Amino acid sequence: MAKTKWWQEAVVYQIYPRSFQDTNGDGIGDLRGIINRLDYLEKLGITALWLSPVYQSPNDDNGYDISDYEAIMEEFGTMADMDELIQKARQRDIRIIMDLVVNHTSDEHTWFVEAKKGRENPYRDYYVWRDPVAGGVPNDLGSTFSGSAWELDEASGQYYLHLFSKKQPDLNFENEKVRQEVYQMMNFWLDKGIGGFRMDVIDLVGKEPDKGITGNGPKLHDYLQEMNHATFGKHDVMTVGETWGATPEIAKLYSNPTREELSMVFQFEHIGLDQQEHQEKWDLKDLEMKDLKTVLSKWQTSLGSEGWNSLFWNNHDTPRIVSRWGNDTTYRVESAKALAILLHMMKGTPYIYQGEEIGMTNCPVSSIDEVEDIESVNMYADRLAKGYDPKDIIKSINVKGRDNARTPIQWNKDASGGFTTGTPWLHVNPNYELINVEAALNDPNSIFYTYQKLIQLRKSEPLVIWGDYALLEDTEDKVFAYTRTDNNKQILVVVNLSNEVQNFTSDYEIKETWIKNMAAPNTLKNISLQPWQAFVVEVKR
Ligand code: GLC
Ligand code: CA
Repeated sequence: MAKTKWWQEAVVYQIYPRSFQDTNGDGIGDLRGIINRLDYLEKLGITALWLSPVYQSPNDDNGYDISDYEAIMEEFGTMADMDELIQKARQRDIRIIMDLVVNHTSDEHTWFVEAKKGRENPYRDYYVWRDPVAGGVPNDLGSTFSGSAWELDEASGQYYLHLFSKKQPDLNFENEKVRQEVYQMMNFWLDKGIGGFRMDVIDLVGKEPDKGITGNGPKLHDYLQEMNHATFGKHDVMTVGETWGATPEIAKLYSNPTREELSMVFQFEHIGLDQQEHQEKWDLKDLEMKDLKTVLSKWQTSLGSEGWNSLFWNNHDTPRIVSRWGNDTTYRVESAKALAILLHMMKGTPYIYQGEEIGMTNCPVSSIDEVEDIESVNMYADRLAKGYDPKDIIKSINVKGRDNARTPIQWNKDASGGFTTGTPWLHVNPNYELINVEAALNDPNSIFYTYQKLIQLRKSEPLVIWGDYALLEDTEDKVFAYTRTDNNKQILVVVNLSNEVQNFTSDYEIKETWIKNMAAPNTLKNISLQPWQAFVVEVKR
């Protein structure tokens, strides 16, 4: 068997620094806030922290528009704070995963400021410029944030490419100099002793815009192999690529160890299950639990030794999972635990998004004035112009908008949930008096302790990391049950993903209960699963 890697045994916690903990009253989370909360994170048991971008940025897209890769955003603190965070985390066996955003920079990055100076500027070719076609945009490529992906630069009469906002011009990876600059910057961070990189929309760097190719371009994997050899390949770090549209076959290209690219990717197939086919994420559809079973099971069984899974329910771009696929009213605690148990007993590296471990919920708005996120704001204007009913657009934003996950962490029941003593940059969810970290820590039955236990099980039971997965096929549609098996043990995971009682039966015999979210049964024969009931039992062999 191949040598095992630390990241195969890790549990990662994602921090969205802007919303984590403010320490100086400016309403914006900061690095000091993260340092101050390391005890909490250690108590949860996670072993790596992925920080959404902390680099200098004008914040058109909250840090995903970087103007200096080797400087810290002023609101977040200083490079000394960053070094301290890396060291103090390491003392607790927690590694820091940096967000690597190299598909694009900010338009305020010096490279772009130079590039805009004219066609002869040495930095011009760091970005993607094209002449107008028939007096207009070069082609019909669209931006993820609505409208055309091309923006006219009046001074030169050329268009530049931006697959995201016009303040996020795309870098030109075909230019060898760009790639070398990126590698140098990555080595700057690796030399600081970080634990790896989460690679923002990395599937786009091989784009061929003239052919309309954005994701999975022909040179993508050459670039990643080159990057691996020039940077992290020499370090004991993890890398996880954000790869929308990855199939298991594509995931193997990235993460088969023999190819020397990435450790693993985020696949998003399950994330697309509650949108209408061939439509945008805003075009809503109810999730069919049987689709979720099919998709997650496919990913569990298809990578084998040719890749490694990441396991996640939500992140800073998606709604809160308990509101999305759980029940954030009557069964908030039960469903949050059920979803946690379902995911954390699977094979792969789990990611917990900040606040998920206390069951934080979506935070609906009633008007576009309450929305901060550029994606939602642009989409609202776009759909309004196309004649959509504003009520429907707000509904989509409340279900899928990114601000849902970005409201500040609710630490206690003080004003603003203890996130800040000032005015928070984004409204705090009004349910903070009920849902907060302090309350969770004081309640032995809280969601927090379910996560803590799941992480402990992963640390103490090799089966959770390595065991083979098999779905129980003939259960009710809304019952998700699977086994994990290794040479020594076998467990059965049973989860009722519904608000109704469901029947369940199996021939397995219980040896021992590992974890549960309500009283667990003594037998598996002809039982009634309560709404959102979930348990993991070791079974006799
Ligand atoms: C990724 C990030 C998202 C960002 C986008 C552009 O999808 O996760 O937050 O807006 O890339 O960088
Ligand atoms: Ca602050």
